[in-house]
Amino acid sequence: MGSILILNGSPRAPRSNSKRYAALFSENCKARTAYFNISSKNHVELCSKLEEFSDLLLVFPLYADGIPVTLLNFLKTLEQNPPANKPNVSVLVNCGFLESRQNDVAVRMIGLFCRQNGYRFGSVLKIGSGEAILDTPFRLLVLWKIKKLAASIQSAKYCTLQTTMPLSKKMFLKASTAYWTNFGKRNGITKEQMETMQIEK
Ligand SMILES: Cc1cc2nc3c(=O)[nH]c(=O)nc-3n(C[C@H](O)[C@H](O)[C@H](O)COP(=O)(O)O)c2cc1C
Repeated sequence: MGSILILNGSPRAPRSNSKRYAALFSENCKARTAYFNISSKNHVELCSKLEEFSDLLLVFPLYADGIPVTLLNFLKTLEQNPPANKPNVSVLVNCGFLESRQNDVAVRMIGLFCRQNGYRFGSVLKIGSGEAILDTPFRLLVLWKIKKLAASIQSAKYCTLQTTMPLSKKMFLKASTAYWTNFGKRNGITKEQMETMQIEK
């Protein structure tokens, strides 16, 4: 059985949804795993760690329909510091919107990196409603797919999986608007303030 290095590419890795997805993966994987957050200072160290693993699992959120800059910068360093034995690269990506296919472009970005740099592309799990699903009963759908993802990487029978909350767009929009409005309220911010660019300042 191989071994899997799990790298969290979320810009808010220490308190991210990606961290929760990665933990579920480790708990449900029979192969040896090691987990690290990607930070701006540990790129070279992570590149050298890759030598010890047969597989790399990149866990990250969708940011502006693509991969977050935290992960992009790491991949740039990896391009310059490739390990002698290249692991197979799998992806666990989550996005805020309902549709798991929103993640397709980000997955293709990793696929392109693999093709251009000589890595075998492995399995993919695309999660829609990734900000919310773990705190709902639909968490079980994620767990089921994460188990399948782990089994596929362990056996090197790579596959593409997806999951999301089984809700209509209308219901999801209603529920997520209520969630974020309450979230803002708890932090002293109104819905109107959240709808302006001032929120960035
Ligand atoms: C700056 C930013 C950009 C985002 N862009 C998208 C996007 O294009 N599509 C989408 O579905 N979700 C988007 N999201 C939502 C995140 O993918 C979602 O909240 C995810 O659960 C965050 O995961 P993390 O906690 O692991 O970082 C964005 C979030 C942020 C903060």
